[in-house]
Amino acid sequence: MKNNRVPKDRLYNRVYDYSKRYLSFKRKFTKLLIKIVLNLLFGILIYFSIIFYKDNPDKVLLSLFIAGVIIADFLVNLALEDSEIKKLRRQEKTYARTFILLNNDYRLAQRDIKSRDEFLSIVSHELKTPLTTMLLKLHNELNNIQNASLANFSVHELLLVLKNSEQQIKWLKSMINDLVDVSLITTGRINLQLEDADLVNITKQVNMSFSEVLKRKKYKVKINAEGPVIGKWDKARLEQVITNLFSNAVKYGEGKQIDVQVIKHRNKGKFIIKDSGIGISSGEQKVIFDLFKRTPGSEKYKQGLGVGLFIASQIIKIHGGNIKVSSSLNKGTSFIVELPLNK
Ligand SMILES: Nc1ncnc2c1ncn2[C@@H]1O[C@H](COP(=O)(O)OP(=O)(O)OP(=O)(O)O)[C@@H](O)[C@H]1O
Ligand SMILES: [Mg+2]
Repeated sequence: MKNNRVPKDRLYNRVYDYSKRYLSFKRKFTKLLIKIVLNLLFGILIYFSIIFYKDNPDKVLLSLFIAGVIIADFLVNLALEDSEIKKLRRQEKTYARTFILLNNDYRLAQRDIKSRDEFLSIVSHELKTPLTTMLLKLHNELNNIQNASLANFSVHELLLVLKNSEQQIKWLKSMINDLVDVSLITTGRINLQLEDADLVNITKQVNMSFSEVLKRKKYKVKINAEGPVIGKWDKARLEQVITNLFSNAVKYGEGKQIDVQVIKHRNKGKFIIKDSGIGISSGEQKVIFDLFKRTPGSEKYKQGLGVGLFIASQIIKIHGGNIKVSSSLNKGTSFIVELPLNK
């Protein structure tokens, strides 16, 4: 917008100075004084001219002179009023522009407050639910052990509770790590440790780390990668990107085949992951990279803060690359990542 060309704080200061000057008693008093002095001067001029021409028989000349002085007084006052009106119009324009900017700020602030509230409710829900169930199960088990009639005590049950707790703690830890990363990114404190990294290797490692869940959910993953794709990248951060994309494919892929491709294309490393799951509508595709955004369809898959794609896209961005999505509702989704081989 044209108005945004003037830096906001400068504009606000200008309006503030304007108002301060305009409303100040000193200014009002000075203006009144100028008017009184001017009118007084004209009055004195007329008075002296009457005295001066008192004995003069030529009354026409006297009348003309007095009329002239009155017209001059009128014109000077008009000019003063005119400059005043011009100043007021300029001031009105500045006010209007500031109002638009303030209104924009207000709308942005409201949007931020709304997403903060959404975030707080998601985070508190996501943190509270596993903690509450974990505590409840541990409490029951402790109770069983303390009051054990050995007949009621089951090692198998205890193991289940401990395994479940371990999983919940892992989930909580990854969520807290994600939130720390969000804070690093939004405050611009994320640093890359650049080194020679192979995108194919990283992909295979991430695939391995998902092997258990892939097996459990009966996923088939096909990786298509011919030679190594090496670039100056931060290995750990790229592992995080690919993990987030794998995790989405597994979460929203409905158990259907996942295709992964890693290639060198022009001077870029290219990573593509394609699932055949729930898909994303074209409207939602525009917001999925925003912080805490989840599509209505993802409600079914309760676990998630809506930060995975935000973190992934920001890491790719600071590597100088880009990420795109291509998707059809109920047909599947592809994420395409491009990274420059040399940053
Ligand atoms: N492969 C996919 N298929 C369908 N929808 C997807 C896919 N990947 C992402 N989405 C949609 O984009 C949203 C944002 O994804 P993102 O990874 O940022 O968050 P999330 O998976 O919900 O939670 P988390 O913070 O645990 O990653 C998801 O909630 C989901 O609605
Ligand atoms: Mg995710």
